[in-house]
Amino acid sequence: MNVQIIDHPLVQHKLSLMRDRHTSVRDFRNLTHEITSLMAYDAMRDLPLEDATVETPVAEANVQRLAGKKLAIVAILRAGLGMVDGILDLVPSARVGHVGLYRDPDSLEPVEYYAKLPGDIDERDVFLLDPMLATGGSAVAALTQLKQAGATRIRLLCILAAPEGVARIQQDHPDVEIVLAALDERLNDHGYIVPGLGDAGDRIYGTR
Ligand code: PRP
Ligand code: URA
Repeated sequence: MNVQIIDHPLVQHKLSLMRDRHTSVRDFRNLTHEITSLMAYDAMRDLPLEDATVETPVAEANVQRLAGKKLAIVAILRAGLGMVDGILDLVPSARVGHVGLYRDPDSLEPVEYYAKLPGDIDERDVFLLDPMLATGGSAVAALTQLKQAGATRIRLLCILAAPEGVARIQQDHPDVEIVLAALDERLNDHGYIVPGLGDAGDRIYGTR
């Protein structure tokens, strides 16, 4: 299947802290940043390298450098914004796009309100960021926007997912690889992931 679960102990430890309802807003925001870096580090182990040479102070060295396409990261507003710097720490030259979506609390359907993507997104490998994949409606809408803009190789990086959201991506965007810290049990009647971690945007920004 196209789902990769990052089971590294540091990722799982940070996730345990994020799930805890007693974790403060400041700590939750920092943990979102840190877990994104760790997940991206693992998820990027397949990036292609190319051979090169550099002059060290002593001699010429054969080295390997990142090759291939350039990277774009796209945050689904608002909670995905909390993940952006975690990847920019690793790949500072990545371009950053934003897709504004919120989930209508009654219908659970995504409502689009903003989009600004790198002009050359068709030439870039894309990481789409959102901490939560619940019904999958928001991610499906964002993926459709990215493909309409020309993106072809997209990975969806989420911290938590429900099986319903994964199934929705596999049905509507089967070419997209999903990277997760954990796959939870189910959605509740309000579309929240169980056991989940609550409302990610509210916990990152201290709103309710
Ligand atoms: C949350 C979350 C996802 C979406 C997931 O955003 O960050 O974008 O819900 O739900 P879905 O898979 O059922 O679409 P929310 O709508 O709460 O907006 P916010 O980030 O602005 O708080
Ligand atoms: N959005 C969230 O922030 N949390 C959930 O559990 C579901 C959707």
